[in-house]
Amino acid sequence: MPVVDNKVTLNHLVSMELLTNEEVIGLIMRGEQFKSKQVACPHYQDKFVTNLFFENSTRTHKSFEVAEHQLGLNVIAFDTDTSSIQKGETLYDTVLTMSALGAEVCVIRHPEEDYYKSLITSPTITASIINGGDGSGQHPSQCLLDLMTIYEEYGHFDGLKIAIVGDLTHSRVAKSNMQILNRLGATLYFSGPQQWYSKEFDAYGQYLAMDRIVEEVDVLMLLRVQHERHDGQESFSKESYHQLHGLTPKRYHKLKKHAIIMHPAPVNRDVEIADSLVEAEKSRIVRQMTNGVYVRMAIIEAILNGRAAKIN
Ligand code: CP
Repeated sequence: MPVVDNKVTLNHLVSMELLTNEEVIGLIMRGEQFKSKQVACPHYQDKFVTNLFFENSTRTHKSFEVAEHQLGLNVIAFDTDTSSIQKGETLYDTVLTMSALGAEVCVIRHPEEDYYKSLITSPTITASIINGGDGSGQHPSQCLLDLMTIYEEYGHFDGLKIAIVGDLTHSRVAKSNMQILNRLGATLYFSGPQQWYSKEFDAYGQYLAMDRIVEEVDVLMLLRVQHERHDGQESFSKESYHQLHGLTPKRYHKLKKHAIIMHPAPVNRDVEIADSLVEAEKSRIVRQMTNGVYVRMAIIEAILNGRAAKIN
């Protein structure tokens, strides 16, 4: 099989807002090439990467690991519980150390919004940064796997009607997706509890009640209720959230014939979506997880391309 070069070159991947439309489409296409096994994977057996997760994760952490192994990379294991973080070492000093040890790429998830700014402007840290989620800021690799999943379904973004529903204030998924989906020509709608809707979202789309949304859209993107970011300030029960803002079987049957359902997961079953619908015909939730591996392979490759281009 031929190795077809990914033409995208990146220094870091920290925010969707810093990618051009061409780079986004290039990464999706490369993810599709890896998925279809039409091309042989590049093999980077002499390179080291590390995954620094300061917040819990299953999908992002483990799919980066799978992607790294698929690309033949050496993965430096890191666990916050047994690292010098426990002695008070800062994120900056941890990344400085990994970079000095030879890690070329650090995938990082951290609760602090914009944590990456001091890392990518450091005169000493040479490792490239992939943001695996910064507080309620950005989650670019999740966004790219979401875009890949939508692209697989429709083959374009222009003119699609897409709703993002739920815990908008705390969602890095919503913030990563809304600007790029607008840029790619989609029409956006929002829904969910008013307490999590703010003027910030008006610039990107229109707020509609969930019962209107389900009849309107091509893509229904549900968000997880992020209990861990609410400081116990929730004014509704799980049952009332589900009835007012969730995807119930009744609402499912009102969706357009071709509409798809997405959710970044983990899913609060019977809250954002009825338990029986998580694996329903219109659900693409499992496909999103699978696509995450391939698009993350494309991201890592683009970064290693960027590093090689700097040297040459
Ligand atoms: N979607 C997502 O980011 O899941 P994890 O928190 O399990 O990585």
